Amino acid sequence: QKRLGILTSGGDCPGLNAVIRAVVSHARLTYNWQVLGIPYATKGLLERKTVPLSLHSLDLRGIDPLLNMGGTILGSINKGDTLAHIDEIVASYHALELDALIGIGGDGSLSILNQLQARGNWQFIGIPKTIDNDVAQTERVVGFDTAVNTIVDALNRLTFTAASHDRVMIVEVMGRTAGHLALQAGIAGGADVILIPEIPYSIQGICSHLKELRDVWGRQFAIVVVAEGAQVANDSCCDTSSPTPSCGMGQYIANEIRSCSHDQLDIRVSVLGHIQRGGIPTALDRLVATAFGKAAVDLLAAGETAKMVTWRNGQVEAVALEVVVAQSPLCVAPNHYLVQTARALGIYVGEEI
Ligand code: F6P
Repeated sequence: QKRLGILTSGGDCPGLNAVIRAVVSHARLTYNWQVLGIPYATKGLLERKTVPLSLHSLDLRGIDPLLNMGGTILGSINKGDTLAHIDEIVASYHALELDALIGIGGDGSLSILNQLQARGNWQFIGIPKTIDNDVAQTERVVGFDTAVNTIVDALNRLTFTAASHDRVMIVEVMGRTAGHLALQAGIAGGADVILIPEIPYSIQGICSHLKELRDVWGRQFAIVVVAEGAQVANDSCCDTSSPTPSCGMGQYIANEIRSCSHDQLDIRVSVLGHIQRGGIPTALDRLVATAFGKAAVDLLAAGETAKMVTWRNGQVEAVALEVVVAQSPLCVAPNHYLVQTARALGIYVGEEI
C-alpha cells in the first residue's frame, strides 16, 4: 500500500481542509493508498511526525466538516528556517517511508518545497493556495475567492456607515507585494479609489478625485481600498525595497489625505487584517480545492512529479514547479483588463503609465 504524505505550508486560508478531504477520499477510494498528514509543514517533516488521515477522521454524526472548515487541521508555519535543515528534512521523507508527498502552499512555500523535492528526489506535487493570488501559471488558487468575498462584505458594511456620516473610509487589505486582492475586491465592493503596489499613485491625484466626487458628482462619502504593500515610492512592479510606513499603509494614506485636504475631510481607517484569512470557504474555493486535490492524486498515480496543479480555461492541468517558482510572485500588470475596467468606471487606480 502506497504511503502518501500531505502538508499545508505558509499562511492559512479557507479551503485547505477541503483539499485535504479531497486527497484523502480520492487516494483511499480510488487507489487504496494510506494518507499521512504532516503537522506544521516542514517542521513536522523535520521532527518526523505524522497523523494518519482516514475518510472519517473528523466525522461528527456522519457529517464531514472538512469541506467547509476554515484554517488547516494539519497546522502550518509561515516563516520557518527550513533551508537551514534541508538535508535533515530531505532524509525525513525517506525515514518516514513516504512514497509521495502533496504540498499545499503559496509562492514562498512552493519554492522551498521545490528545492526539497529536487534535493531528495521525492515524488512531489504542489497545490497552489494563497489569499494573495500571486502564484504564476494558474488562473485560480485555493483561498483567494473567499478572501475577496470577505473584503466585499466588509466594504458593503463600511459603505453604509461612511455614507451616513459623509466620511472617507480607508480600508487596508492584505496581499503582500501584489495588488490582486485590493483590485478585485475594490471593484466588486464599489471602491472609489484603489491603491496597489504595482501602480504608482499621487496623493494629489487621490485628493483631486475625492474633491471631484463631492463637487461634481455630489457624493459626500468615499471608499478608498489600500493594499498593504502599496508603498510610498512604488515605482516598479512588486518593489519591496521601499519600506511600508510603520503606521501601516491605510493610516499613512489617511494622514496624507488629511493634510492635502487641509483637514476638510472626515476620515476613518479600517485595517481588515487576519479576518481576511478566516471564514468558511466559498463554493468556488471548495470546488477549486476539490478539483486540485483529486488532480494531484491522479498525477502521482500516473508517476508524475515536480509539478503543480493549475486552473486554466476551466480545466485542471499541471505545470513544472520550476516554471511556477521562477515566475512568482505574480503581480498585477499595470495594463490589466481589470485596471482598465476600474478606470472606465471612474475609479482612481493610480497614475496612468
Ligand atoms: O500571504 C498571505 C498573507 O496573509 C499576506 O497577505 C500577509 O501580508 C501575510 O500573509 C501576513 O502574514 P502573517 O500571518 O505571518 O502575519
